[in-house]
Amino acid sequence: MSEHDVFLALPSKCCDSAFAGPHRSEFKALLDELRRNEVDVYCPLEEVGWNATAYVDDPVVTMKSRLDQISNSRHVVAFPQVGEHTSSGVTMLIASTFERDIPLTIVLCGEDAFASEWQLAGLCGLSKQEGGDCAIIFYTGSVAHCWNKLRNRVCAERESRKLQVGSSSDCPWGEQYQWYWDNRLNFFSKWEDPDGNQLIDCDLTGLYTVKPELISRDIAEHLGGNTVLDAFAGVGGVSIALAKAGKSVIAVEKDKKRVDMLKSNLSLYGVSDSVEVVNGDIFDVYEQYNFDSVYLDPPWGGPSYKSRDSFHMRHFKVGGVTKLRRLVGYCLNNNKDIAFTVPNNFDFPEFSTFCRKYAEGRGAGSSVSHNMSLRWGKLNDRVLFLTVFLDTTRRVAK
Ligand SMILES: C[S@@+](CC[C@H](N)C(=O)[O-])C[C@H]1O[C@@H](n2cnc3c(N)ncnc32)[C@H](O)[C@@H]1O
Repeated sequence: MSEHDVFLALPSKCCDSAFAGPHRSEFKALLDELRRNEVDVYCPLEEVGWNATAYVDDPVVTMKSRLDQISNSRHVVAFPQVGEHTSSGVTMLIASTFERDIPLTIVLCGEDAFASEWQLAGLCGLSKQEGGDCAIIFYTGSVAHCWNKLRNRVCAERESRKLQVGSSSDCPWGEQYQWYWDNRLNFFSKWEDPDGNQLIDCDLTGLYTVKPELISRDIAEHLGGNTVLDAFAGVGGVSIALAKAGKSVIAVEKDKKRVDMLKSNLSLYGVSDSVEVVNGDIFDVYEQYNFDSVYLDPPWGGPSYKSRDSFHMRHFKVGGVTKLRRLVGYCLNNNKDIAFTVPNNFDFPEFSTFCRKYAEGRGAGSSVSHNMSLRWGKLNDRVLFLTVFLDTTRRVAK
């Protein structure tokens, strides 16, 4: 059976003229646009026909009869009807995608349809229970906003399959890092010139902690704000992407040698003018800067993180969990959007509870919570990390 880029599960009632969500014509426009971008989409609704007056198949029956197509898709996108997030069809999709390690995107259209933290935490809990390591991504907001995000994401995924392979050579830091070395052009497309001469300035830690270029671009596109604080900048993977996305960046890095590498890499990508480089400890300096959003990529403390059942906030190697909590709390309290890259075994319920505490701390007058979403960082079928996005800008006082 052929592989599909996307399995598009549309709400069963979208052909019904009384349906409150996006109408079939809007879904059809989305589908046409994806195909114009050469994305291979499988959509069960097409088998029924766009002209059906009412598509009322039982969603569970529909999904059960299409498990083969789900298995052969790289990404499943579901549009549950607002108010029915946990309907049997979606629950079944979650279980089937987790079982098969297929990423699932849940799109909730409509201004009021914001995914709440407990949903995210609950669904991630389900992921653990099912033994999967898949990510769920929520897109919420207007139809135009969701369509835009979705199109960008699946097109970027398509691009990312055109991965590059560097000239084969032994990793200078030893064979245990060979996978990272073989992927060096996916971390930095300008790693070397066509003759194989290295252009990027990078040490071993930089090699295995830098975020791949395509995923950095995705993070930069998804994180709001004009001025971004890249709190743990490293050798600059994400700072470069943020600058290329048109943002002003304040890049903080503690290690002096890596600061020099960062500067050299910013210059190679022609973005030095958009990035203020700070050599310092983020916890000493963040309150001195004006920024709209923050990117957090603290060190995990080496490969031992994998052996933990659950990776907690206290396990980041930043010299004490209190400092990290205080920084996250400062951003939440000051309405700064956050993107936070974490390991696959990160304890989301703990983090979610922590964030809720801050939301509640704003008092009875504050509206519920920040919009939370989760995106995964996958390279060559290996899930390297997850990035949690907290959009705090919607937390306006009633
Ligand atoms: C995971 S790496 C960042 C990788 C980076 N996002 C990229 O894409 O290239 C973490 C970096 O944070 C730096 N770091 C650790 N503690 C820090 C602190 N307290 N303040 C600033 N930088 C710190 C480390 O030296 C390391 O380079």
